[in-house]
Amino acid sequence: MAEFSLPKNSKVTEGKSWPSPMGAADVTEFRVYRWNPDDGQNPRLDTYYVDRRECGPMVLDALIWIKNHVDPTLTFRRSCREGVCGSCSMNIDGTNTLACTKHMDDVKGAVKVYPLPHQPVVKDLVPDLSNFYAQYASIQPWLKTDSPTPQGEWRQSKTDRDKLDGLYECILCACCSTACPSYWWNSDRFLGPAALLQANRWIKDSRDEATGERLDNLEDPFRLYRCHTIMNCAKACPKGLNPAKEIAEIKKNMVDRQL
Ligand code: SF4
Ligand code: SF4
Ligand code: FES
Repeated sequence: MAEFSLPKNSKVTEGKSWPSPMGAADVTEFRVYRWNPDDGQNPRLDTYYVDRRECGPMVLDALIWIKNHVDPTLTFRRSCREGVCGSCSMNIDGTNTLACTKHMDDVKGAVKVYPLPHQPVVKDLVPDLSNFYAQYASIQPWLKTDSPTPQGEWRQSKTDRDKLDGLYECILCACCSTACPSYWWNSDRFLGPAALLQANRWIKDSRDEATGERLDNLEDPFRLYRCHTIMNCAKACPKGLNPAKEIAEIKKNMVDRQL
């Protein structure tokens, strides 16, 4: 039987339990993954108690409250606080989602917060998404044309514009790719659901004139065909998008162009 040994820093130990705020009757317990690459220690789970009288309702509000009132060393990413920038994605209560749109009251018991799974960790809740962004860049996410540039804008009919619904809303949060088992095991070669959804966004754009080249770029046993339609990606997407459907469409395009 094959034996696996986990990397040295993969064992998560019990961390510090911070005191509950004095006099607070309504508190929510948080269990938060902490790891600092500079201190040589294993990752740990720290416990915090958030005073609900002073804090907004979302998990991100609680993390900001902890950072401001309890532990300024807690590290996480966020920007917009309203579900449009994609930077606060993390694993909350076992599910990849956006901390700014996840309500604390939707979690039963202590709120457990980890970084997105199966990515290297930079610090605490911040994953290293360099590979994810490089894969996005590899699908060449811009309009490619051979026709002379028009005087005004590149025009598109309303019907053709509607074909981009379900694609343009992607905020590149990586919740889908980091929930995909095929991506966990082959993220060096499989593009993953987010990059493939984005690839189809440009394949389907009526103004783009590089469809053949885009399909050639994906015609590979790993880059596209490592998707086994497990559907975790669609379940994980906080914007309600369906990358698996887009991947299936690209595969169908591959077949149709052989006919
Ligand atoms: S459908 Fe494909 S991309 Fe989505 S989770 Fe499954 S294997 Fe990954
Ligand atoms: S498809 Fe959804 S989960 Fe995946 S990166 Fe885009 S917004 Fe995030
Ligand atoms: S902070 Fe922008 S999506 Fe959450």
